[in-house]
Amino acid sequence: MSQLNKYLLVLLIFVIPSTWATYDHYRLPNALEPLHYNLRVLTHLNSTDQRFEGSVKVDILARESTKNITLHSANLKIDEDRTSVRSDQEIISVTSIETNEVYNFYTLHLSRELEKSKNYQLEMHFEARLNDSQSGYYKSNYTDAITKEVHHLAVTQFSPTFARQAFPCFDEPSWKSTFNVTLGYHKNYTGLSGTPILACQDHESLENYVWCDHEPLLRTSTYLVAYAVHDLKNAATQESTTHNRVIFRNWMQPKLLDQEIISLEIAPKLLAFYENLFQMDFPLVKIDQLTVPTHRFTAMENWGLVTYNEERLPQNMGYNLQQQKDRTSSTVAHEYAHQWFGNLVTMKWWNDLWLKEGPSTYFGYLALDALQPELTRGERFIDMDLANFFDKDSNGTVPAISKDVKDPSEILGQFTEYVYQKGSLTMRMLHKLLGEEAFFQGIRSYLSRYYLRNVDQGDLWNSLQEAALENEVIPLDFSLSMAMDSWTLQGGYPLVTLNRNYETGSLTFKQTRFFKGQEIGSDSSCWWVPLSFIRQNLPDFDQTIPKFWLECPLSTQNLQLLETPSSDEWIILNPQVSAIFRVNYDEKNWRLIMKSLLNDPNFGGIHRLNRAQLLDDLLALAAVQIHTYDIAFDLLRYLERERELGPWQRAVNILNKLGPLLDDEDAKQLKIYMQKLLLPLYKSFPKLSGITGSNTAIKDIPFAHFVYSQACRYHVDDCTDQAKILTISHRNGDNLELPSNFQQVAYCSFLEQGGDSEFENVYGHFQNTTNESQRRILASSLGCSRNYTNFEQFLNFTLHSDEKPLSDCCMLAVKTALSRDHLVSPTGNYILSHAKTLGEKFKKKELTELLLILVGNLRSAEELEQLKEQLKDIKTFEEALQKALYLGKVNQKWQKDCSSDFIRAIEKRL
Ligand SMILES: *[C@@H]1O[C@H](CO)[C@@H](O)[C@H](O)[C@H]1NC(C)=O
Ligand SMILES: *[C@@H]1O[C@H](CO)[C@@H](O)[C@H](O)[C@H]1NC(C)=O
Ligand SMILES: *[C@@H]1O[C@H](CO)[C@@H](O)[C@H](O)[C@H]1NC(C)=O
Ligand SMILES: *[C@@H]1O[C@H](CO)[C@@H](O)[C@H](O)[C@H]1NC(C)=O
Ligand SMILES: *[C@@H]1O[C@H](CO)[C@@H](O)[C@H](O)[C@H]1NC(C)=O
Ligand SMILES: *[C@@H]1O[C@H](CO)[C@@H](O)[C@H](O)[C@H]1NC(C)=O
Ligand SMILES: *[C@@H]1O[C@H](CO)[C@@H](O)[C@H](O)[C@H]1NC(C)=O
Ligand SMILES: *[C@@H]1O[C@H](CO)[C@@H](O)[C@H](O)[C@H]1NC(C)=O
Ligand SMILES: [Zn+2]
Repeated sequence: MSQLNKYLLVLLIFVIPSTWATYDHYRLPNALEPLHYNLRVLTHLNSTDQRFEGSVKVDILARESTKNITLHSANLKIDEDRTSVRSDQEIISVTSIETNEVYNFYTLHLSRELEKSKNYQLEMHFEARLNDSQSGYYKSNYTDAITKEVHHLAVTQFSPTFARQAFPCFDEPSWKSTFNVTLGYHKNYTGLSGTPILACQDHESLENYVWCDHEPLLRTSTYLVAYAVHDLKNAATQESTTHNRVIFRNWMQPKLLDQEIISLEIAPKLLAFYENLFQMDFPLVKIDQLTVPTHRFTAMENWGLVTYNEERLPQNMGYNLQQQKDRTSSTVAHEYAHQWFGNLVTMKWWNDLWLKEGPSTYFGYLALDALQPELTRGERFIDMDLANFFDKDSNGTVPAISKDVKDPSEILGQFTEYVYQKGSLTMRMLHKLLGEEAFFQGIRSYLSRYYLRNVDQGDLWNSLQEAALENEVIPLDFSLSMAMDSWTLQGGYPLVTLNRNYETGSLTFKQTRFFKGQEIGSDSSCWWVPLSFIRQNLPDFDQTIPKFWLECPLSTQNLQLLETPSSDEWIILNPQVSAIFRVNYDEKNWRLIMKSLLNDPNFGGIHRLNRAQLLDDLLALAAVQIHTYDIAFDLLRYLERERELGPWQRAVNILNKLGPLLDDEDAKQLKIYMQKLLLPLYKSFPKLSGITGSNTAIKDIPFAHFVYSQACRYHVDDCTDQAKILTISHRNGDNLELPSNFQQVAYCSFLEQGGDSEFENVYGHFQNTTNESQRRILASSLGCSRNYTNFEQFLNFTLHSDEKPLSDCCMLAVKTALSRDHLVSPTGNYILSHAKTLGEKFKKKELTELLLILVGNLRSAEELEQLKEQLKDIKTFEEALQKALYLGKVNQKWQKDCSSDFIRAIEKRL
């Protein structure tokens, strides 16, 4: 005993006082804390000279004594002669400098120790070229539509680890400091930073240059600091209704000024909405929204200077305009939720990136629904995220959303759609589990407790736990953190199986991880699964606070409900799909559910998100042979009466992916089945030829778009004729205005039914038009043509163009062609034979998406092998190929094990 004490004592003296004992080699040491930066940056931005030079003075507190200063710096030329370290009394000389390339460390070794609890000031001078890589302080440009003159601009993108490319700094989210920014630039330009300008003065030597001081910026992580020097135009100055009456300005290149700008319309409203929702004022007085011609991401939530990617504006995206507009709205809503989740309360380290991305995505959806409830976008996005999540997360290699990351490339690798989606669904799960009161109480106390500070996920769990206990929505001995860790610290999700004993009324639960294309039960992971029991005689799908938790590690549990459901009513778990798990029931319960869906008015009160999920679950269970397709198709029959987009979209998207895996005869059968399935729905919609620009309410566009495109794709009833009429009347310049949201459907059928002259017609139109969104609609339609000779001519023209918007058109057309029957195989060959060019022109993410679509259409192992052979040596395809080959394997397994069951089920129903 005493020996142990002695040992401990030794440890205490020699190990714990040293900050280096806990120093992870990829993190900055804890010995020094940056308190404040004075940053001065002079930007040169004429046609021959694009660079910046600057200085930074960092006020530092020595938390421990140390003889070196380590901070981050990358791609900067530092003038070592002008580097200095001083305290109030003295100057400390630097004896040597050490750098670490992997982690971008820059270490100054000092002649003597910095003393604990004393303040110091580090001054460094640096310069670099404005780069082209959309990170750090980078350059971008636009061409004036009239003068054809190229205008240059400079803007920052610091998230996640690029501030160090703009100035030497302690570039980790937990080192929050205040910032005084001073920008120098030529008077031709406007300088922006997170805060308003305090004062400007002429540059000491450069003619027509100014130095402008900006007001101090509140305590922040480096990744949220931003500045820009540009000559863009301000579309509007708006005052918001927030506590500080935040002033918004909206900068963009002149040609965009007359377009609909979604961020301009909704940002002030969003900010005010969140202020009220979170009951915490937004602390700044102004926000500049800057639309940048080139941007690494879709947008960035910088303090006071939110940036948007011009290439992702609705008019520059895909062909589905309303969908793009909705996406842009959700991006804007996401960026403004970040002002609280990320900016005010920041994760300690990038492992917990989801702590800012999940809530921002989820609260973004809530905000859109609150501000424009008639558009019902939030639930549509949640439905799509659920579909995506259940599909993607069934791979054995998906990582946890909260996972260790060390170097800059791993950190960047955290920014995946998966982290955003699962993070958002996790927040939603908490909302539904705790209920309105407890959830928002917990969220507000979390935000105020950690205001301007840093957190890890445990801090969120604890705030919510306290609120939950206070509101009595969890048992006293329940640990929310233990439960929630099981969702964020491991990948995947469970399949919960419920077996009812109809005599005793007892319920037996089992959970296993769900895998697609892998043996179920081959994995021992488990979750804390919240269970609510909705019964047919009391179908209250708002009851999302759980009655019971399936525990982890216990994997089988028995339960007797207080009110035993009678043996002729169904039970549904997981109302509103609040938590992210699949459910399997015994066959009798499935049949009871089906009976309600097929016969009851209002589908027995079953919530539409559950209706979609029931279809998804049963089709997924059939694809892993837990059920037969026969029972899944029995459930599909209920769609005949379904008039909500969610369930339809879920089911049809799943079936559409199976079609290409069937041989020709079987594919024909599926087509006939799809025609039968879609017919009643199609008939319930107005005739396509009668659609004009104004007669579809915005909220109905997504469903109408879905119905017409699926119906025409499967040649349901008169859909293609209607499309032709619509196209022709539009082409003749009749008064009938062809609404842009339905142009793609119309042109697509027009091309598919037509011949050379129709192709020439649309292709000519494509070449003539200068309107980006029109061009994309036409490009995507051209993929519907049947004549490959014609189509190839288009592909060659667009792929080899130097204009990025044109090569993007090639990608759009290829994707359409791969999703239809006629040109799949020559288009596939085209991709393979032009792989090198594609690899040069497109990003990894785009290539992955392309290959996944391509592989989704390959029927034989030989084709897959051929694909591998052709792409294996092209470096840019490496990651895409790996994912594609995996999908190919899963598909082959389905063909071998399930396709005959699938076809039998279809044939029975023709
Ligand atoms: C500033 O604008 C004037 C007039 O447009 C132009 O002639 C000059 O080259 C510009 N200077 C710089 C540094 O951009
Ligand atoms: C660009 O700026 C540099 C100095 O900043 C100057 O030497 C050069 O003449 C300028 N070029 C033009 C075209 O204005
Ligand atoms: C910096 O000083 C600490 C002692 O304070 C020492 O442990 C550490 O190794 C030094 N770091 C470098 C990179 O020399
Ligand atoms: C304008 O920006 C694009 C994209 O970054 C770049 O490829 C091009 O070279 C730039 N043009 C000029 C004149 O700098
Ligand atoms: C930052 O700027 C403010 C306003 O100009 C000034 O009062 C303050 O002293 C500056 N902070 C430092 C540390 O220089
Ligand atoms: C494209 O423009 C040319 C010349 O302006 C015109 O002759 C031709 O009819 C146009 N083609 C289409 C399809 O609009
Ligand atoms: C395809 O288009 C080419 C070029 O327009 C034409 O010569 C050929 O006859 C067409 N093929 C078919 C099958 O229509
Ligand atoms: C799925 O898992 C396999 C290995 O099991 C892996 O090679 C592949 O990249 C994963 N696919 C995706 C889309 O993550
Ligand atoms: Zn984000």
